[in-house]
Amino acid sequence: MKTYDIAVIAGDGTGPEVTREAIKVLQAASHRFGFKLNFVDYDLGGERYLRTGETLPDSVLTELRRFPAILLGAIGHPQVKPGILEKGILLRIRFELQQYINLRPVRLYDERFCPIKDKRPEDVDFVVVRENNEGLYAGAGGFLFRGTPQEVAVQESINTRFGVERCLRYAFEFARKRHAQNPWRGLKPEDLAAAKRAQLTLCGKTNVLTYAFDLWERAFHEIGQAYPDVKRDYAHVDATTMWFVKNPEWFDVIVTDNMFGDIITDLGAMIQGGMGIAAGGNINPQGTSMFEPIGGSAPKYTGKGVINPLAAICAGQMMLEHLGEAAAAQAIEKAVIQVVREKLKSLAAGQMGYTTAEVGDLVASLV
Ligand code: IPM
Ligand code: MN
Repeated sequence: MKTYDIAVIAGDGTGPEVTREAIKVLQAASHRFGFKLNFVDYDLGGERYLRTGETLPDSVLTELRRFPAILLGAIGHPQVKPGILEKGILLRIRFELQQYINLRPVRLYDERFCPIKDKRPEDVDFVVVRENNEGLYAGAGGFLFRGTPQEVAVQESINTRFGVERCLRYAFEFARKRHAQNPWRGLKPEDLAAAKRAQLTLCGKTNVLTYAFDLWERAFHEIGQAYPDVKRDYAHVDATTMWFVKNPEWFDVIVTDNMFGDIITDLGAMIQGGMGIAAGGNINPQGTSMFEPIGGSAPKYTGKGVINPLAAICAGQMMLEHLGEAAAAQAIEKAVIQVVREKLKSLAAGQMGYTTAEVGDLVASLV
């Protein structure tokens, strides 16, 4: 039987509670679809840091490289200064394992949970391809005269031709593949009539960031030549946030840099129903990828059994899709949609009408 070794970093806060439900659902799917998942736990996060001073030891990083995938719960602890765990664990894994794509689907499963009036599931259905290894996240820059009246802080955005191109190529391939699966997605009405093509929107700021996004824009059109079936579209990042609220149905696949991707995907999460449902994948197409609910550790809900595990379950679904278990992934998504539409009163913590474990049970029973 096909067996996948999966590293599990349940992490901080509500991470362990939601990860438990994701594993429950993944196990159910593996039994039904005839493959085996072998989960290996890693103790990383705020508690370990407070106990030992370690964030991500080199030896653990080396071990993680042998897994095709990592399932992550959440990283972030109220007693640890912001930045230490984020940079020391989450970003370090993303960078060291060259997970250069952060894939974040924005899909509304039930119009009751969309904060925008009159938007239906078919209107909120797009995917953000966020560059995940460069930009402002690269950590380039520094201080001069820190703590004095003359202090200077420089934080630079790094955009390499290599990094931008590999991200764009992934995005074009992804748009092509997504379109083949569902050709009517994300097209403006006039385009739908004219040409049934996939659409890739570059989200940038070419009017102000005239170096970084000049490179992005040139590379976008150069690489796009090889994808005549994918319509190229451009939107400034500020306008993108406006369209997310006004006309989310205009989007199909969006590609953007690390910082803009971080910001617009929080907005994306809100229009799909909130952090309770939003998941993402940190992808290295040739190596170890990591899947996570994008919501964070939610310390105030920790241990109460009220947090929504669907985001973690959807992260598990993305993981199976990535591993090539498409049928199992689809079954999980179908089960999630059914639970969202037929059972839950809300997607928010404490208001679902079910406990965390009950939501996991419901999905698992339908897979
Ligand atoms: C995310 C998070 C992280 C990011 C933080 C926790 C470092 O906000 O995954 O979007 O900024 O990438
Ligand atoms: Mn974020």
